[in-house]
Parts: sequence; structure tokens; C-alpha cells
Amino acid sequence: MSELASRASELDAADELAGLRERFVLDDVVYLDGNSLGALPAHVPGRVEDVVRRQWGELRIRSWDESGWWTAPERIGDRIAPLVGAAAGQIVVGDSTSVNVFKALVAAVRMAGEGRDEILVDATTFPTDGYIAESAARMTGCTLRPVAPAEVGPALSGRTAAVLLNHVDYRTGRLYDLPALTAAVHAAGAIAVWDLCHSAGALPVGLDEHGVDLAVGCTYKYLNGGPGSPAYLYVRRDLQDRFDSPLPGWNSHAEPFGMRPGYEPASGAVRGRVGTPDILSMLALEAALDVWDGVSVEAVRAKSLALTDFFLECVAAYTPAGRVESVTPAAHAERGSQVALRCDDAGDVMKRLIERGVVGDFRHPDVLRFGFTPLYVGFADVERAARVLGETVAG
Ligand SMILES: Cc1ncc(COP(=O)(O)O)c(C=O)c1O
Repeated sequence: MSELASRASELDAADELAGLRERFVLDDVVYLDGNSLGALPAHVPGRVEDVVRRQWGELRIRSWDESGWWTAPERIGDRIAPLVGAAAGQIVVGDSTSVNVFKALVAAVRMAGEGRDEILVDATTFPTDGYIAESAARMTGCTLRPVAPAEVGPALSGRTAAVLLNHVDYRTGRLYDLPALTAAVHAAGAIAVWDLCHSAGALPVGLDEHGVDLAVGCTYKYLNGGPGSPAYLYVRRDLQDRFDSPLPGWNSHAEPFGMRPGYEPASGAVRGRVGTPDILSMLALEAALDVWDGVSVEAVRAKSLALTDFFLECVAAYTPAGRVESVTPAAHAERGSQVALRCDDAGDVMKRLIERGVVGDFRHPDVLRFGFTPLYVGFADVERAARVLGETVAG
């Protein structure tokens, strides 16, 4: 056994989270794509079957009350809340991240004071956020300014209404300084909107502690909610009364069954709802969140950093010099839970890795992306992935 392989066994033996792997359906593939689609928690199929056969099949319409369907968006929001450092009553689950970015950004501009007519958006953002920010700007009469996150400080002014940022960059895995950037946005009198897709479930976020105004995120990555599972929207409690949704559906009406022609918003997190919740996906997500019972986000973060450190070390040892280059920061304070490696023939290399049982993904034009979900990835997986990568790029 190589020195790195024996280190991996020692690290796995000392890993207090190692037992959590049994909560998931996994095989002998090294699954490093949980930053795209989390693995299936083992108990979810049984729970979904109950939702379909009993709640829907037998109780039918009664389930809106008796099975708690109607209140699911806020109830599940409260389950996500501790994972992102939020007190209860501020998160509603529903719709996609894209739709929630739209709600949050337009609502942020509507909250901003008179004379604020600029939206700043992370210039390197996941495309959907940029497209929606452009449309939100047009609708609200604002100018959109794409800026690199490092340039946000100098770009802020008395004209800034809202700033849309990513906690972790989807391509490079770079973690941004949410507390400092939020403070800078506030110092300029603007509203901070954060996209947490690549941080929630992988590292502490501290929404309440850092005074974030609005945040959105998906649940199918590190929260393992399943393909297309609904996203969530956080509206800080003291801003909820001012949250003026651009999608004021009947589900966020103060009296949804009053069926009145005029809209009157509900109070609280409910205000972020639009229409009928996607119950099957939502309850699959609720079940999936059970894997977090007894697990602290801090422990997950510590293991995530150990995994990515070890991966970088193994890649350096196994890969011919100059063949791949990490674009993920080495500093822990700037690293999310993924490692992105630039590689000339990345698309081809990823295909060959997948054939050999190492699943990451490829991002155009030349990035190999490996996501590390501490709940089910171990150190032997990391060593094997780096070894197979080394053999693949050498061959
Ligand atoms: C950072 C980020 N924002 C937004 C989205 C879009 O999410 P959705 O397609 O669920 O709307 C994604 C999807 O992967 C993402 O990674």
C-alpha cells in the first residue's frame, strides 16, 4: 500500500462522520458530484412511497391538512434554517433558485431607498443569476453593473440598490467573505442578496449573525433533496414586512382561501410563496434532511477542508507536473467544498474518469470539478480519485 493510501485509511479510521455514509445509497463509484446532485439518502424512497400511496392515494385532499402539506414550505424552511445559521420563521421552501433570485432581487430594489438605481451582480456568477439580474434591472428601471466580487467595495455608491453575490463560486470553488461583503453593502446603504447554492450544507453560513438581508439556495446539492427539489428563500425577519414580492401569488395572500380580487400579503416567511407547493419533491426533501440529525455544520466543514487538502496533496503526488492546475484557492478561508482543476482536455479526461468509476463533472471550457460531500465521501475515495486522475492524465 502506498504511503498516501495508508494515510487515507488512518484518516478514515479517525473520522467521526464516517458512519454517516450508511445513511446513503452508494456503490463502489467514487461520487464527487454532490455539488451538482447529492446522493440519495437510504430512507427517502420509503418515505416518498408513503407520501404517494397513503397521503395522496388514500387521504387525497385531506392531506393538505392532515399530512401537513399546506404548511410544508415554512416547516421545511425551519429545518434548513439551522444549517445556514438562521432562526426559525425566516425561510420558505419552494420554486427554483432561479425564481427565488428573481423574487429576492426585485424585492431588494423595491426595499432600497429613493435614488438608488443600480444593481451590482457578481460578474463571474452562475449564468441564471446574471440573466435574471439583467431582467430584474430592466423591470425596475435600474442599471445592471457586473463586477468581480473583489471589486464590489469600490463599485458601491449611494446609487446602489442591491448586490447579488455567490457565497461559493460554482466554477472555481472560491469561497467569498460573506460577513465583510455584507457589511460593505450595508455601509453603502444597499441590500445584500446571497446565492448559497454551493455553500449550504457544506460550511457555516451565519445568515443571522452577519445580518444578511435576503438569500436563496438550492436543496439538491449538499442538502441531498433530489433532482429538481425545491429551492428556498430567506428574508430577514425585520425586513419581512417590507418584502414586496414581484410574484404575489395566492399562496402568499393573507387569506388565501378568501379568494379576493385584491392582493394583501401574508406576514412572515409565507410572503415568499407564490403558488401551490410541489409537494412530492418537497416532502422528499423533508425526508432527506433527516440525515442531518445529530450532525453539526462545523464538523462537516472541518472534514470538508481535510478532504480537499488531502485531495490537493494526492493530486500533486500522482499527477505529472504541469498537467493540471488547481484554480481553487489553497487558503481555507477562501475554499468551498470543491476542487476545480484546469486541464487542457478536461472534457475528455472527465469522460475517462467516469468510465473508471470516479464521478466529477466538467465545466466549459477546461475545468474538472470535484465536489466533496463530507456526509458520504471518505479519505480512501479521495486517494483513489486522485490516483485514477493521475493515471488518466499520464496515459
Ligand atoms: C450558484 C447557482 N445559482 C443558481 C442555480 C440555478 O438553480 P436552478 O436551476 O435550480 O434554478 C445554480 C444551479 O446549479 C447554481 O449553481
